[in-house]
Amino acid sequence: MFRHMVAGWDSSTRLKNGSEVHYINFDNAATTPPFKSVLNEIMEFAPNYSSVHRGAGYKSIISSEYYERGRDIVLDFIGGNKDYHTVIFLKNTTEAINKLSYRLKDELQDKIVLSSYMEHHSNLLPWKYRYNTDYVKVQSCGRLSLEDLEQKLQYYRGRVGLVAVSGASNVTGYTNPIHKIAKIAHKYGAKILVDGAQLIPHSPFDMKAIGSEEHIDYLAFSSHKMYAPFGIGVLVAPKSTFEKGYSEHIGGGTIKYVSIKDTIWADPPEKEEAGTPNLMGVIALSESINTLQSLGMKRIEEHERNLTVYALNLMRDIPNLVIYDDFDTDNKVSIISFNIEGLHHQHLAQILNDEGGIGVRNGCFCAQPYVQKLLNISDESMEKYRSDECLPQPGLVRISFGLYNNYDEVYLFARLLDQIGRNVEHYRNKC
Ligand code: ALA
Repeated sequence: MFRHMVAGWDSSTRLKNGSEVHYINFDNAATTPPFKSVLNEIMEFAPNYSSVHRGAGYKSIISSEYYERGRDIVLDFIGGNKDYHTVIFLKNTTEAINKLSYRLKDELQDKIVLSSYMEHHSNLLPWKYRYNTDYVKVQSCGRLSLEDLEQKLQYYRGRVGLVAVSGASNVTGYTNPIHKIAKIAHKYGAKILVDGAQLIPHSPFDMKAIGSEEHIDYLAFSSHKMYAPFGIGVLVAPKSTFEKGYSEHIGGGTIKYVSIKDTIWADPPEKEEAGTPNLMGVIALSESINTLQSLGMKRIEEHERNLTVYALNLMRDIPNLVIYDDFDTDNKVSIISFNIEGLHHQHLAQILNDEGGIGVRNGCFCAQPYVQKLLNISDESMEKYRSDECLPQPGLVRISFGLYNNYDEVYLFARLLDQIGRNVEHYRNKC
């Protein structure tokens, strides 16, 4: 349906047997190919490219306008409020969360941050190494336990300052009921950060009205997972978060006044964006949001959900296949993780590439604690992997669909997976 919209949708690759086939990219959770509209916009804008906020010339004025317009486009896309929110452009989600964790240092002093077992390392390590942190448990199927969240909030009696959760897991694709979580967090006086890296490209999103119990306080996401791979990460936050103090990176563009004795910092967002900003990244993100909006996030979600349902139906009876999924497709994005018993995940990923021209990701996907839980590996058992890097490390294989993937690709993938599942011994010996 949206097939021709991305660059490289019709690429081919050579299999190990020498034949040339269509390349199937099922690694969209890692990064997506660019929209053609984004590439066109970049080329169209390029002749006007100039310095943002740093020049009196005509091109510099246009460049600054396009850069600032990007913030409005983001706010409109995620239901933000121009008077209340600031949109800070950074490198990616990781940098956005790191910035927030640094800038909340006064607010969260003596407080506890609740992260969870299902987080990407980017929404775990910045909290773990700066704050007293606890981790909300996941159920055996891998879904976040809301009971445990509430129990922890009760246990800490108002001392939790922030609940930092993913909108959707990059391992299972499970979506979290973020507005429900916001309501629970707010009831106990905590704020909520949503790591939206895997959610924003796939589903409609709304910060919800400020003051509403369901309001999302902080949101982070990346352009490279939404068809605009030019290095932009977004942090949406209340302006008030950045009024006091100053950024972890300071320098050009962050000030109103400097003398050797004194500095007056600029207002947010400028004070948080040191150095010449990534204008082309913002142009790309703005255009990708325009394209996504014109297609309709609901339609995109529906298409990707149908692909996921189709894939899971084809996969569910494959011999020796273990799928890390509860099949609740209404509450997940288009990500499926699995293993074939008797084959190492690295080997399985290699076979999919060599024999099917199918690009997947394998390993722990920068979410090691979550993958350990899904694989039911105890902390004691993890010790042996920790102390012996030569041991084949645990992990999974992951497929993740973008809006341009189609049923034929899913079918070809499932057919090959079925062949592998039925002939594990044969494939193991080929290793
Ligand atoms: N976080 C990205 C992934 O899950 C890179 O693959």
